[in-house]
Amino acid sequence: MKEIARIFRYATGLNKFIVSIAILSLVVSASLLVTPFVIKYATDVIVAIASGQGGNLAQLWPLLAIIGGSSLLVVVLNSINGYLGDILAARLRQQLSERYYQHLLALPQSYYDETETGKIINRLSRAISDISQFINQLANNFLQMLITVGVSIAIMWWYSPWVAVIIGAQIPVYIFLGAQSSKKWTKFQKQHNTLYDKASSRFAEVIGQMKVVKSFNSQQREYASFQRRFGKMVGITYKQSRHWYFYSTLRTACQAVVYTAVYAILFIATAQRAMSIGDMVLLLTLVQQTRMPLQFINFYIDMYQKAVTNSQDYEEVMRTKPDVDTGSKDVDVAGKDIVYDKVSFAYEAKDKRVLQAVSFTIPAGSRVALVGASGGGKSTLANLLMRLYEPQSGAIVIGGIAISDMPLARLRNQIATVFQEAALFSGTIRENIAYGMPWATDEQIQSAAKQANAYEFIMELPKGFDTKVGERGTKLSGGQKQRIAIARAILKDAPILILDEATSALDTRSERAVQEALDRLMQGRTVLIIAHRLSTIAEVDKIITLKRGKVDEIGTPAELAKSGGIYNQLLDLQMGGSSANQKKLKKYDIAV
Ligand SMILES: Nc1ncnc2c1ncn2[C@@H]1O[C@H](COP(=O)(O)OP(=O)(O)O)[C@@H](O)[C@H]1O
Ligand SMILES: [Mg+2]
Repeated sequence: MKEIARIFRYATGLNKFIVSIAILSLVVSASLLVTPFVIKYATDVIVAIASGQGGNLAQLWPLLAIIGGSSLLVVVLNSINGYLGDILAARLRQQLSERYYQHLLALPQSYYDETETGKIINRLSRAISDISQFINQLANNFLQMLITVGVSIAIMWWYSPWVAVIIGAQIPVYIFLGAQSSKKWTKFQKQHNTLYDKASSRFAEVIGQMKVVKSFNSQQREYASFQRRFGKMVGITYKQSRHWYFYSTLRTACQAVVYTAVYAILFIATAQRAMSIGDMVLLLTLVQQTRMPLQFINFYIDMYQKAVTNSQDYEEVMRTKPDVDTGSKDVDVAGKDIVYDKVSFAYEAKDKRVLQAVSFTIPAGSRVALVGASGGGKSTLANLLMRLYEPQSGAIVIGGIAISDMPLARLRNQIATVFQEAALFSGTIRENIAYGMPWATDEQIQSAAKQANAYEFIMELPKGFDTKVGERGTKLSGGQKQRIAIARAILKDAPILILDEATSALDTRSERAVQEALDRLMQGRTVLIIAHRLSTIAEVDKIITLKRGKVDEIGTPAELAKSGGIYNQLLDLQMGGSSANQKKLKKYDIAV
């Protein structure tokens, strides 16, 4: 129960529903228990009339009225209870989802490097549906069942202790059987979940990268692997279902024997006049009332186990530590140098260091380019500046303050980025440009688009700025998407700018338009460029070359052109122009 209780920590304001439902359940159970007594009394009256021992039919009317009235009351209260249960479950779902999403949004980038999207989404929907269903059942039926069974057995005890003992003895047996079967059932369920997560993650990835799938003609292969996973899932369901029905049969058979025995006791006792007919009818009704709830014990245990299993998954996500954001030093980074001070970093603590004691300065308002082999840590240096990851040692300092001491949002607000792949959201072009600044006016958005060389092509689209682009911007060319991303960065108007191979995904023609837009974007900002063309690098104020995770050289393009270092070699390679040379250039993420 403590797992479920833990889940309730994430929900607030639900107690009033739980208490109301509990009280209503109590009333319903009481009303249900009235009926057997009334029937008993009626039977006594009927037996008396029928055997000519007095009494009259008029005595029966109020009894029928009570039976009818209490049935109606039960119907109405049950409906109210159902309604409250629905609201309780809906509120719980809402709160659990909100907390989960809120938490996910705060999780570090490393979490997303490792976890498939499908798994993240499935975990939520599973946890939420199973937990809220369990709570709903618990509130609506379980409590009522518990009270009905408990009180029924107590009354039976009064009339016939044997019957009470036999009926009561079923409970521990069913709980034992339920727990027994549940363990294995949950194991199957976990296997099933894992397969389902894999299949659906892959499904989402394939849909998201349909172009790649098509270009490699791998539809059939993807389909086959999907089929394979679902086939395995069905296999598990077979086993799971067989397992379930085995125990279910065992339980129901057990119950059939028990109830037959109880009937025998009641019939014999009544026939031998040890019990009145009225008492027999009362007990038969009570016994009958316990039958359904007892059968459901297993069902409740399963639901409970499922809720527990899935709440553990939920908990696990919720326990993952979010980004540390304890920084309180508010710094306006405009006009301040960015200093990398002996920064060492590995993505995983056990991994080899990607960066080793890297130190350099990006003077305020200048353009600094990073050059190094592909996989040499250039993008990593940019990631660290945005604090998507924290260095293992060393620090990045802006204006004398380490960025780890700044509030995360404040830091990221002051950095604009343009990456290799322009990430667009489904929605209009206007929304995409204003993504970082939803309150921007039309004039601001248009002006940003103009500076980004995007205005003209946007106006040529059927609906202009209101044109909807697909989730991945599928309706735009690479260069167009990139110019939208640049317009977004222009609108953000941040003092620091990171360009990570912003033109590398483009052909030469669209690149020119993008390059022009980038030049405008770079005006008056401190820029970290991971360039894709030597021509871009030639125009920066300073080049930093990286070799094996360390800074190799630092200097102006003119200085490094003669130093014999990496940049020098790259220039020579470019001059040479042979295909072998081009290959070598590629290794440095440099276009040819
Ligand atoms: N999210 C990540 N998790 C683990 N390793 C990573 C991650 N991103 C990059 N790396 C590794 O870190 C190294 C540096 O990568 P990166 O900074 O992207 O190189 P560059 O941008 O210079 O091509 C590479 O060896 C790469 O495999
Ligand atoms: Mg890179």
